[in-house]
Amino acid sequence: MNRIFSGVQPTGNLHLGNYLGAIRNWVALQNDYECIFCIVDLHALTLPQDPAELRAGTREVTAAYIAAGIDAERCIIFNQSMVSAHTELAWLLACLTPLGWLNRMTQFKEKAGKQRDMAGLGLYAYPVLMAADILLYKATHVPVGEDLKQHIELARDIAGAFNRRYERDFFPLPDPLIFGEATRVMSLRDGTKKMSKSDTSDYSRINLTDDADLIALKIRRAKTDPEPLPHTIDELEKRPEADNLVGIFAALDGISRETVLEAFGGRNFSSFKDALTIQAHRVIGDITDKMRRLMADPGHIDAVLRRGAERAAAIAAPNLRQVQEISGLLRP
Ligand code: TYM
Repeated sequence: MNRIFSGVQPTGNLHLGNYLGAIRNWVALQNDYECIFCIVDLHALTLPQDPAELRAGTREVTAAYIAAGIDAERCIIFNQSMVSAHTELAWLLACLTPLGWLNRMTQFKEKAGKQRDMAGLGLYAYPVLMAADILLYKATHVPVGEDLKQHIELARDIAGAFNRRYERDFFPLPDPLIFGEATRVMSLRDGTKKMSKSDTSDYSRINLTDDADLIALKIRRAKTDPEPLPHTIDELEKRPEADNLVGIFAALDGISRETVLEAFGGRNFSSFKDALTIQAHRVIGDITDKMRRLMADPGHIDAVLRRGAERAAAIAAPNLRQVQEISGLLRP
């Protein structure tokens, strides 16, 4: 059986990039795969977090998963720290991971910034914990946005290292699933930068919790260029902001970029932005309403997470036990 694992960090606002690049695709995949969707609170701790906000963020991401259409019965939804096997496996995998592999990870360089010596060991080891998340469940597929491709490749390398070291085909090599028209949603203020939770300008992103007026304002203020929209995809090449907005429109409406340009080629941005706002309101408004209703009942969210953790642990425990045995740890 093909099994999916993926996750989101419960840090700050969930934005359109998280939704279009990842969560929306998960909703489509849940019919064809056994799915495990995690709220990765341990990953969040690789950077400083306010404890109360971290807890609230964990519930909020859970609500977002469900509001977006993930079925908590069919899929497993849980928060990472509830299943301690993640950190146990991460250690065993860390012992197999050469430093050279971690030194190549571009995200660490970005997140650590100039003060590299002050960055935490957890931030450096972050990709190993991510590999453990995936491999603990022997997941075969990992649906993510473009930015995590390198991390999935590392998880494959680590799985291969384990299989070679112990001369058996234990871990499947997980494949990334990166698809849709918005695999890399860019900032609304700068089409060359990724839309990100950590951008200091809130106008760079559309959050899943933004109300209709704010969404309209952010789209109106989104950076564009002076030309009207082109008729072909090729003509979007040197126009990152236009390219980004066309991709967002296509993803929201579930159509191709070509179809968007057939409708809007030759038109100016103001009419395109009006149409984009309508799409954004339609999709996000629905999610926000459902999220608000779910968040009003934290007891229900916690029950979903507890049940999810039980189901996740039932898969994780025997896998971890096998890894421990293969690695030569005595379990008398
Ligand atoms: P995180 O929380 O940064 O992002 C969650 C998901 O959203 C995608 N994403 C984007 N997609 C398109 N455009 C963007 N601008 C954009 N920004 C974010 C990400 O690719 C991701 O799919 N370490 C991971 C979480 C994680 C995980 C895992 C994922 C932990 N363990 C195991 C898969 C498998 C993270 O921080 O994602």
